[in-house]
Amino acid sequence: MDWPVLNLLDRCYLESACERGSGALASSLLIRNAELVVPEGDPWLGDVLVKNGQIAEIGQHLAAEGVARVIDAEGHTLMPGVIDPQVHFREPGREHKEDLQTGSWACARGGVTSFLEMPNTDPLTIDQATLDDKLARAASKCVVNYGFFIGATADNLKELQTVQGACGIKIFMGSMHGPLLVDDQAALERIFGETDPNFLIAVHAEDLSRIKARKALFAGRTDVAVHSQIQDEESALIASRRALDLATRYRHRLHILHLSTGLEVELLRQHKPAWVTAEVTPQHLLLSTADYARLGSLAQMNPPLRDPANLAQLWQGLHDGILDCIATDHAPHTLEEKAQPYPHSPSGMPGVETALPLMLTAAQQGRCTLAQVVQWMCEAPARLYRIPNKGRLQVGYDADLVLVDRHTPKPVRREELLTKCGWSPFEGWELVGWPLVTIVGGQIAFQNGQVDPSVRGKALQFQR
Ligand code: DOR
Repeated sequence: MDWPVLNLLDRCYLESACERGSGALASSLLIRNAELVVPEGDPWLGDVLVKNGQIAEIGQHLAAEGVARVIDAEGHTLMPGVIDPQVHFREPGREHKEDLQTGSWACARGGVTSFLEMPNTDPLTIDQATLDDKLARAASKCVVNYGFFIGATADNLKELQTVQGACGIKIFMGSMHGPLLVDDQAALERIFGETDPNFLIAVHAEDLSRIKARKALFAGRTDVAVHSQIQDEESALIASRRALDLATRYRHRLHILHLSTGLEVELLRQHKPAWVTAEVTPQHLLLSTADYARLGSLAQMNPPLRDPANLAQLWQGLHDGILDCIATDHAPHTLEEKAQPYPHSPSGMPGVETALPLMLTAAQQGRCTLAQVVQWMCEAPARLYRIPNKGRLQVGYDADLVLVDRHTPKPVRREELLTKCGWSPFEGWELVGWPLVTIVGGQIAFQNGQVDPSVRGKALQFQR
């Protein structure tokens, strides 16, 4: 990928330290004339000075003297970089779908400056060695910041108790094969009861027994729409209820991944202890079972898409604070794999490149506000995974930033995608809010439609 050294962006300009003469602080950056989405109050037009990877100053008419690089944002919107708390980047083991480098490039293009990646790789991330391997791989190739889950199995309790550097424990209660599937009650009791209650457990909540029974009921059906009937709303509710019960009894931090049903929203509305959080994906908010006709197995994912009534309840759950944050569950598969007839077609869809424009388009349509998008996609993931210094446009915070164009509509185009799988269920959708510039720790990782592959993100830190 070519990297233009000086031309930053059609609408922005860049001056290098050498162009501006001597005395420039090498790692400083000034973003001028941006609509700043600050934590409190309305956005306002101002400047942000970045020094040594952090936000040093926010104000109006900040001096550019001695600053290495200047970006004129021309009124475009500057917000904290998105933290995507659920992605599957397939490395090691299935790099033909995605790898940590291409996944991180797709993040940068989508304004995602930090990601948390799941353990269903090959080998599975289920101990310190496999976690350290991922951290080392990411350090050598990721242009954005990264964190990794350790997966629970029925017999890796010791690893879950002693692991260092993981963002949380992932439990697949259903929709998984092999050791990562943990459905046995005794094993679940051990994991919740005997690990640090402050070490977040994230669950994929779908009930194995019910899904098995319903698979038998619908055996022989090859139309992909049946996926939502097999892995039905009740399957999700049963598993979420079970996880909530465990977290309540053991007072263990719990995060319920990708909620898909109104039933689960209502469950949490009735009982959601302070140490329990939940998330939703843009696809569960914006695509429904009606989309199978158009998308076929490209719309197949776990948990499955639901009917429009559920979508409305998920939106309401977000607005009411029952759902805390948004994650993409970026789960790339190749088009060839997806083309297999159901049930052989794999579940999952990519999302890191489109999530922010989708949500900013929803904001433009009046479905939510710009401040809520920042809260759900930046502040909340940082808060619930206890990632210090991220998710806010505030002095002293890390300079993980994204400058977006909230006004010019542009379609999702397959040929522009950086995800290795090369497709999107949202292809053709006209969206606003496309990132113009993505900044990771003060470094420009994406600009002018291109990623700088030499930029490196950092390993995220997680407090308990
Ligand atoms: O549809 C899905 N696919 N949901 C998940 O949670 C896992 C994912 C995958 O890894 O392909």
